[in-house]
Amino acid sequence: MPHTEPTSAAIAPPRRRDLLTWLLGTWGAGVIGAVLYPVARFLVPPAIAESTTLTASGGSASKLLPNTGRIVPFGPRPAIVIRTETGELRAFSAVCTHLTCTVQYRPDVQHIWCACHNGHYDLTGRNISGPPPRPLPQYDVAVKDDEIVITRSS
Ligand code: FES
Repeated sequence: MPHTEPTSAAIAPPRRRDLLTWLLGTWGAGVIGAVLYPVARFLVPPAIAESTTLTASGGSASKLLPNTGRIVPFGPRPAIVIRTETGELRAFSAVCTHLTCTVQYRPDVQHIWCACHNGHYDLTGRNISGPPPRPLPQYDVAVKDDEIVITRSS
């Protein structure tokens, strides 16, 4: 049987098939890349460590009267700003160290108080009565143009 060369019509279908294979491969690689890139970005930590300093406004300093406290947003959790009877400003995490209820200021006993289980903290944030197992973290406080600025750095 004599050997015959394929005609140009016989060659055309493999070229179309090659083109479709290449297009599908490229599309598939794009889809895989679009899925894997965000996953890789999520899993690999950034080259520069994120800042651990958090700063927030504690509101007007002049409107926070002696022997009062104010709950303010501080990142994802609340903070409590207190003006002591002597006029000193202090700020703490407002998240109770027992079961994470939000604490409040009790002017009658001059304590930070958690109503959930009657936990008491003194004005240094130290747990002094009730179930709270640890002190409240204390934050730095400054006043700039009558605005209380609360800072946590660590
Ligand atoms: S949650 Fe604060 S005392 Fe229990």
